[in-house]
Amino acid sequence: MAKQAKTSYVCIECGYASAKWLGRCPSCGEWNTMEEEILRAETSGAAIKPERPAVLISDISASSDIRLETGMAELDRVLGGGLVVGSVVLLSGEPGIGKSTLLLQICETVSRRARVMYVSGEESQGQLKLRADRLGVKGDAIHLLTETRLESILSECERLSPDVVIVDSIQTVFSESGASAAGSTAQVRSSAMALIELAKKKNCSVLLVGHVNKEGGISGPKHLEHMVDAVLCFEGERRQSYRMIRSVKNRYGSTNEIGVFEMGDVGLREVPNPSQMMLDGRPENIGGNCASCIMEGTRPLISDVQALVSATTFPAPRRTANGFDYSRMCLLIAVLEKRLGLKFYQSDVYLNVAGGLRLDEPAADLAVVFALLSGITDRIVPKDMLVFGEVGLSGEVRAVSHAEYRVKEATRLGFCSIVMPKRSLAAIKAPEGVRLIGISSIYEALTLLEKKEVPNIGKQR
Ligand code: TYD
Ligand code: MG
Repeated sequence: MAKQAKTSYVCIECGYASAKWLGRCPSCGEWNTMEEEILRAETSGAAIKPERPAVLISDISASSDIRLETGMAELDRVLGGGLVVGSVVLLSGEPGIGKSTLLLQICETVSRRARVMYVSGEESQGQLKLRADRLGVKGDAIHLLTETRLESILSECERLSPDVVIVDSIQTVFSESGASAAGSTAQVRSSAMALIELAKKKNCSVLLVGHVNKEGGISGPKHLEHMVDAVLCFEGERRQSYRMIRSVKNRYGSTNEIGVFEMGDVGLREVPNPSQMMLDGRPENIGGNCASCIMEGTRPLISDVQALVSATTFPAPRRTANGFDYSRMCLLIAVLEKRLGLKFYQSDVYLNVAGGLRLDEPAADLAVVFALLSGITDRIVPKDMLVFGEVGLSGEVRAVSHAEYRVKEATRLGFCSIVMPKRSLAAIKAPEGVRLIGISSIYEALTLLEKKEVPNIGKQR
């Protein structure tokens, strides 16, 4: 007699498993996060032969991976040169960021070389057609399927044998054999596993759209990210038109690549020159602004750091950081107070990185320091000056990687003087008409700002 399937209750937040249902997860403390999961009935333990026996790696002929161009060079760059045939890509992002728009847009180009099936569990065929018309997507080889049942999706895949399957979204797909509701950890996991199996078996590419939870992570089981070949995150402020796709995992390309897009009336448009975009509308002759160059994967990106330092009479001054780590900003302020004797404790500090960019790289430290120094001393960092370098706790300026790429990008965008760590300077030849200034401490940064050649707009504190 076959053994009965067992059930267990698993927390969707942390994965804690319990035999009983609990209102509050004892592991992470979250309420109403326990979901029922059906465990497979135990097997007899008899030996099962694998479908394909193990082979020697030297016996496998390595076929170079075949890639499909998506028609969006920015997306291809993040994917590592196009969509790999037979791969599974997970695209996640906040609602309304443009996931469905992007995937429908790429259908046009992809369908010229491959048969595409777009499965939507969120929109009706009429809605999809309206959107496709608006985006100018006409492709004859695009099949639309509005379905949420996994079994029906798989049978349509069997009938049509598509080369590319887009599932919008994985959280809406559910298997009729599963007991829990669509979007639950168990359903997301089993649906994703079935679709991954489909991709590997039929050698078709699968693009899955993933919702994000309130913490910003991908909702569903954590190991969904482990199961797929690539994880792309769609980021950006919904209120701003600029969007970025970041690759956080890619089995077929480099991670931390970004692709930049702009949302307009007819969908997403690529931004091939994001550095220029970041500098658009940059104010002139205002203290507290400083340009920097950070590396996003292999791509140098210019960003504008702004610091507003205003006097306060409150004993606990306000500090906010937008686009930069708050604790890192507090640390840099403390370094400036301690090493240069500046009185930041009498001022509120508001730090902002223009263009919705997030600076996670240590090379952005020196630009933050320059912006803070400029903000408190009211001396302007010249518009054609760019700054990069890491700042240590003793106020020393440390070398950073890829200095040459940064200098090249800054030169391309018209910056004439580049302040950088002295130790990175040795290996670089200054491009024509560009002055490279090597500094080794924040004291030198302050001296540089106080030089006569840097204009003064207000009285010094
Ligand atoms: P959508 O792609 O549906 O987002 P997601 O699938 O990530 O939830 O929609 C993105 C938003 O962009 C939507 O709020 C409307 C807007 N939008 C435009 O501004 N222009 C357009 O051409 C389209 C199609 C959408
Ligand atoms: Mg959508």
